[in-house]
Amino acid sequence: MLSNTIQIKPVGAAIGSEITGIDLSEPLAGPARDTIRSALANRGVVFFRDQDLTPEQHIGLARQFGNININRFFAHAEGYPEIALVVKEPDQTRNIGGGWHTDHSYDQIPALGSMLYARQVPPIGGDTLFSSMYAAYDALSDGLKHTLGGLRAVHSSRHVFGVVRDDRFRNPEAATQDAVHPAVITHPDSGRKALYVNPGFTLRFDGWTGDESRGLLEYLYRHAAKPEFGCRFAWQKGSIAFWDNRSTWHYALNDYQGERRLMHRITVEGCALTG
Ligand code: OGA
Ligand code: MN
Repeated sequence: MLSNTIQIKPVGAAIGSEITGIDLSEPLAGPARDTIRSALANRGVVFFRDQDLTPEQHIGLARQFGNININRFFAHAEGYPEIALVVKEPDQTRNIGGGWHTDHSYDQIPALGSMLYARQVPPIGGDTLFSSMYAAYDALSDGLKHTLGGLRAVHSSRHVFGVVRDDRFRNPEAATQDAVHPAVITHPDSGRKALYVNPGFTLRFDGWTGDESRGLLEYLYRHAAKPEFGCRFAWQKGSIAFWDNRSTWHYALNDYQGERRLMHRITVEGCALTG
């Protein structure tokens, strides 16, 4: 039962807030929207429980945070190109998002965030891990912060979406874009610095070979995946996670073989990122 009082409580020390007392099926009142925006910018991901949304209501909710990105690679909900299907059928062994990554870092103008709504979840398993790239950056030495401050990194979708693996993905020919972003960004809403490289889509530092980049990137990936920087979300039907794609990584656990998991994802457009 939803009460009328908005309450917000931390999930991990560095990342994640659970918000209660908001019915997301209704247009948001100003204070509710401000609470969500500010928690998103400062805590990286916000979670909601027990939401009952039609596809239209999910779309209406996302539009209150920006324009919707129509995903070029994911199959979408029938009749709703705005809603990407993040699904794993009982007979599929690979899941979507099963490694640390940041959605859309391969775009010149990366998405602000993604809003994932759980429609069907396995009886156990299928949690999602999140990690704070603010916390990862803050914990680096001044020396490495200084070095990274002068670097840019090349991101690509080619190796992930340029090969079609099954009918959950399409348009491999559209996976042609490489984008270059600062390795450390200043978050457009919070003003905080965040590490902006990720194992899913970052290829190398700009002006460096892949070989030269590997050692430093692998160090950063090990560092940024430390559990101290993260939190874990156990889904129920009706849960929503809305994450900020600029200051977080996420990782979908694939520990529910033989079960079905169906999520509806809407991605909100962002802005160009600067150092
Ligand atoms: C995604 C994703 C995580 C999950 O939708 O971008 O990585 O837990 N999903 O399904
Ligand atoms: Mn993802």
